[in-house]
Amino acid sequence: MFRDFANVWTPVALTAQLRANDVMRIRVAGTALAVFRDTHGTPAAVLDRCPHRGAALSLGSVRDGCLQCPYHGWRFDRNGQCVQVPWNPDAKRAALHALAIPARELSGQIWIRTSLGPEAPDAPTVHESLLDPKTRLTGIETIWHTHWTRAMENMLDWPHLAFVHRGSIGKDLVPFSAERMDTLIEEHEWGWRVRTALRGAVRPGMLDFRRPNQMNLHIPMRGRHLTLAVACVPLDEHRTRLLLMAARSFARAAIFDWFFNRTNRRIADEDRNIVESSDPPQIPAASAERSVRTDKATLRFRSYYFSELHGSLCRLPPA
Ligand code: FES
Ligand SMILES: [Fe+2]
Repeated sequence: MFRDFANVWTPVALTAQLRANDVMRIRVAGTALAVFRDTHGTPAAVLDRCPHRGAALSLGSVRDGCLQCPYHGWRFDRNGQCVQVPWNPDAKRAALHALAIPARELSGQIWIRTSLGPEAPDAPTVHESLLDPKTRLTGIETIWHTHWTRAMENMLDWPHLAFVHRGSIGKDLVPFSAERMDTLIEEHEWGWRVRTALRGAVRPGMLDFRRPNQMNLHIPMRGRHLTLAVACVPLDEHRTRLLLMAARSFARAAIFDWFFNRTNRRIADEDRNIVESSDPPQIPAASAERSVRTDKATLRFRSYYFSELHGSLCRLPPA
């Protein structure tokens, strides 16, 4: 389970996508999950496979905050405990549990941890601007047909802005592509912060990589803030779900959400075809491609991926 992406927290959906009494089927790193809300509205996740005959629990329904299998009606609570077995009041339910996965709700998103058991040894973290009660958060999702590592590198890549986004967010950089660009990386406990310098002058704007799969772009604005937060969620070897959030301290009325969502979608659409064309879909070892100095931030991600995530695995307990 969760091959090459084990034991990490990741956003998997937008808060608004998981309504009370709905069950979502969410794939993360090749593993299908059934995600629902309990009676308190708190998200819960279990492996999307009933321990009885293997039916997809995501085809079931939520009853009294528990997930009911569509096949024979076994019911499971948020910890995966079996709480009801129709026709068998004498069943030893302790041995009939589903496999729970840690789930949370934070910063307008549903999160899961790619590990087994309802409890987690740690908690997801996000930039403070996404938690500020005065911040308005809005988000959309889109699917790219590539491995998440290509999408993630694209999010950390400054040099492409003046080419792929020459008519939008890269416009200011267009006149300078013959100049020398330097990449400045600052280490933090959550990942690292990337700034750029042109002709030795540090440019406004900074970009954070937050382990394992988030990018926050902080757009400079006097007295206010706008952060674009992107999570690259691995669905499987060939597909990535991008959750594109915008956090703003101004124009906070909901009617302006469409503007920020449309802008985020446009920018992502400018990248899409090009990133999907990168071959192979999963990033290879750095030595398999040619790189230059301004690839420092993406190479930093590449070395993180190969040392911490690639090869990671969460093993199912014996039946
Ligand atoms: S397969 Fe789920 S209750 Fe039978
Ligand atoms: Fe881009």
